[in-house]
Amino acid sequence: GGTGSVASSCPATKPSMLNVHLVPHTHDDVGWLKTVDQYFYGGRNYIQHAGVQYILDSVVAELQKDPARRFIYVETAFFFRWWSQQSRSTRNIVTQLVQEGCLEFVNGGWCMSDEASTHYSSVIDQMTLGLRFLNDTFGECGRPRVAWHIDPFGHAREHASIFAQMGYDGFFFGRLDYQDKDRRMKTKEMEMVWRASASLNPPTADLFTGVLPNGYNPPPGFCWDQSCSDDPVQDDPALEDYNVDDLVSRFISISKAALYKTNHIVMTMGSDFQYENANPWYKNMDKLIHYVNAQQANGSQVNVLYSTPSCYLQELNLANQTWPLKSDDFFPYADGPHDFWTGYFTSRPALKRYERLSNSLLQTCNQLEVLGGPKSRSGPFGKGDSDTMKRAMAVAQHHDAVSGTEKQHVADDYAKRLAEGWAHCQVPYVRPVGSRGHRVRPVGSRGHRVRPVAAARPLCADLKRPRVPSAPTLSGRASALRRPSPAAPPLCADLHAASPLCFQYLKVTFDPNTGLLSGLTNLETQQSVQLTQNFYWYNASVGNAESSQTSGAYIFRPNSSTPCAVSKNSNTVLCVCQNSVVQEVRQQFSPWVSQVVRLYEGSRELELEWTVGPVPVEDGFGKEVITRFDSNISSAGYFYSDSNGREVLERRKDYRPTWDLTQTEPIAGNYYPINSRAFIKDGKAQLTVVTERSQGVSSIYNGSLEIMLHRRLLRDDYRGVGEPLSEPGEFGNGLVVRGRLLLTLTPPETAADSHRPLAQGLVLQPLLSFQEGAPKPTSKLEFSALQAALPPAVHLLTLSQWDSESVLLRLEHQYESGESKAFSQPVTLNLQVHTHTHSAVTALLPCCLLYRLSLLCFDCSFFS
Ligand SMILES: *[C@@H]1O[C@H](CO)[C@@H](O)[C@H](O)[C@H]1NC(C)=O
Ligand SMILES: *[C@@H]1O[C@H](CO)[C@@H](O)[C@H](O)[C@H]1NC(C)=O
Ligand SMILES: *[C@@H]1O[C@H](CO)[C@@H](O)[C@H](O)[C@H]1NC(C)=O
Ligand SMILES: *[C@@H]1O[C@H](CO)[C@@H](O)[C@H](O)[C@H]1NC(C)=O
Ligand SMILES: *[C@@H]1O[C@H](CO)[C@@H](O)[C@H](O)[C@H]1NC(C)=O
Ligand SMILES: *[C@@H]1O[C@H](CO)[C@@H](O)[C@H](O)[C@H]1NC(C)=O
Ligand SMILES: *[C@@H]1O[C@H](CO)[C@@H](O)[C@H](O)[C@H]1NC(C)=O
Ligand SMILES: [Zn+2]
Repeated sequence: GGTGSVASSCPATKPSMLNVHLVPHTHDDVGWLKTVDQYFYGGRNYIQHAGVQYILDSVVAELQKDPARRFIYVETAFFFRWWSQQSRSTRNIVTQLVQEGCLEFVNGGWCMSDEASTHYSSVIDQMTLGLRFLNDTFGECGRPRVAWHIDPFGHAREHASIFAQMGYDGFFFGRLDYQDKDRRMKTKEMEMVWRASASLNPPTADLFTGVLPNGYNPPPGFCWDQSCSDDPVQDDPALEDYNVDDLVSRFISISKAALYKTNHIVMTMGSDFQYENANPWYKNMDKLIHYVNAQQANGSQVNVLYSTPSCYLQELNLANQTWPLKSDDFFPYADGPHDFWTGYFTSRPALKRYERLSNSLLQTCNQLEVLGGPKSRSGPFGKGDSDTMKRAMAVAQHHDAVSGTEKQHVADDYAKRLAEGWAHCQVPYVRPVGSRGHRVRPVGSRGHRVRPVAAARPLCADLKRPRVPSAPTLSGRASALRRPSPAAPPLCADLHAASPLCFQYLKVTFDPNTGLLSGLTNLETQQSVQLTQNFYWYNASVGNAESSQTSGAYIFRPNSSTPCAVSKNSNTVLCVCQNSVVQEVRQQFSPWVSQVVRLYEGSRELELEWTVGPVPVEDGFGKEVITRFDSNISSAGYFYSDSNGREVLERRKDYRPTWDLTQTEPIAGNYYPINSRAFIKDGKAQLTVVTERSQGVSSIYNGSLEIMLHRRLLRDDYRGVGEPLSEPGEFGNGLVVRGRLLLTLTPPETAADSHRPLAQGLVLQPLLSFQEGAPKPTSKLEFSALQAALPPAVHLLTLSQWDSESVLLRLEHQYESGESKAFSQPVTLNLQVHTHTHSAVTALLPCCLLYRLSLLCFDCSFFS
């Protein structure tokens, strides 16, 4: 893209020389070993010495001393706080530094998001929050040109696609698989064009992508932060420790050794929480630049300068190079043969679920604020605002937040922030009360089956009680806003062998001896698969002679490639329950693993509700718990997983599309992130698993798909967090996690028509509310803000109040090209949106519930 304003502020380079762009930067995690607040103020420095407020104070002072100096800043969550505490005169100085290009914002989201366990809707929201602040505060000059993900542990194609579509000119990162990096250095392919979407016409999702030479650190020997111990430039020749000649020659030889295509290279000068005292950094870099460039008089061809990523990128554009093309992604990431960063795909499963559920609430809250008008933004509880949740969600996207790689007290802090977000969204969203005896209204969107989380569930013991016909229950039907007819609670039989579950679309069989799932038949297509499902665990490695690498918050390293089956029972079935709307089989695999297999009337998918924990570790082994589906589908080593919930990528066992892989970890080296769905298929059948949180997934055997559900570990994995991942849970004896998987069996050519809306429906599942009593006759029970339904291909991604006059509306075409015969085609939408007058809707609030622009309202007497 054209970067006129950048050009004018970029330092001059020397076309005939090797230009070394020094990029002074700090990497400020939005929570990791300390909470985001502790990092900002510099609290609890005994955990880690880090205080972001001082970094910004110090850098601003040092930048004023010399107009040649540069600094980039990344995390708007911190900058925003710091800015709000500055005087008018400091703000003026900073604004001038930004306008002159001395202080440049890069990336600019609220945080530097995790790429493996985030969902694209939340990534877009957190980028919006940060970029909006920068635009509002600094205008066009504050607009980041470059995406900068120097620390995330692997890179998702969807992230690159989002960055390209947001108008970034380039993307830089630090971590990629060590084998991939070796090869790229040899072939000078550290810089490339990432074609980040298989659906968008090039160059819509093309993004220049560069791998930084030293991760994000300075070259060895040149770290001049107060936290480093490298020698400063000692330039008095009269003194014993004079080292200029040595430093200059080392710097020149490091620069010349760089394996990049053009005569420009970038050097990151900074690291985690550096520049708290910016003086040693700038003082020594000033001298380095002076002495290295002085050698040019004696024929040196190396030119060092203060620069920024966008100035570096501009030089690359001028160099008129052609770059290699990359079209897959950068997962999984390994920094050694036994060091696969594939554990964090699943680490902290409860936090991962809470984050996803909170997104659903945030979207509801946003939509109600729009439809409810000003009153819904200052409700009777005095806290009607979505800002708290917007910020909590934005912070939760950080690469040590939803990733699960933070210390326990920091994970607790993220959860607390989300809980505050929920509290603040309680005005438009009805306050939930106890469920017993209250009416429950399922709300679904057209064509989507949506399952509530908190529905009252009958116990097996119900069988022995008299049946209560009016007890609350939920219809499985999908018709939007239809009042469900009350159904009897499931009738439970204390059986120990399960008979098949069967409604009109699906038949599910169980092995009579083991009680395990044994087959699935799609009754519409008469298609069957043999399908078993079981739960297993891998013992975590504590290191061995080959490598001391342990399994931990980041790393997955099983002790053995053969997992242990959890079940020691002869038959897992506890009991079977059924009524006219639901049939279920309840299985117990061990005291700490159970599952309800549930089929709803009218449903094309099977629900598997698993409960795992507390994971026992008394035998001295940490454990990584998986569920595995083994089918007779001829998947031939291929499987498919989504990228941040949007497009789907093909995976192949023991294979990488861009280099010849030497596989050194047969299990961990085949794990990939799953954000919403994964599948295997052959010519006839596709088995799709839809998840409601991010997890790790693999297909180790032909026809199989395994998903890691929970992990409890006893060792740290030496990547900095300094704690074993052993979540205490409510009672301190280990966390119990419950979650759901949805399973569908369809012909591959129509699979997307069902799994795409199913996955979207789980991401934005409706939130249930309850109230006392029956609605008044005057109550309006149905409301839709849409005049007509959206076409099936169109997904309402965002409806949010932007400011007092405007609303942010994002619509997306949710299908990939070629994904669905019916829905992949381009869609034209008339945006003549009819807006209801605020007053009409406001009268209904706050007793309304909204899901995808369908608003269901209750009797408001509860609030009076
Ligand atoms: C950026 O700020 C300008 C001026 O304040 C405003 O006109 C524009 O709409 C803003 N753009 C965005 C995307 O917020
Ligand atoms: C350039 O080389 C000459 C001769 O070797 C030396 O005297 C002079 O100090 C050098 N200049 C610099 C800047 O190193
Ligand atoms: C850029 O390179 C292409 C060939 O790769 C060449 O045709 C073109 O003239 C070059 N442009 C400039 C400005 O050097
Ligand atoms: C899998 O098993 C089912 C049921 O036995 C059978 O109908 C189907 O053809 C088999 N599929 C393959 C690919 O063998
Ligand atoms: C697995 O555990 C056994 C027994 O403790 C040990 O001998 C072996 O080296 C371990 N392997 C790995 C990869 O950790
Ligand atoms: C895990 O370790 C326990 C205790 O040593 C052992 O009994 C079990 O067989 C191991 N399982 C696997 C899958 O390695
Ligand atoms: C899996 O399928 C591939 C391709 O058909 C085949 O080469 C491989 O041997 C199969 N693996 C097993 C364990 O059957
Ligand atoms: Zn980081």
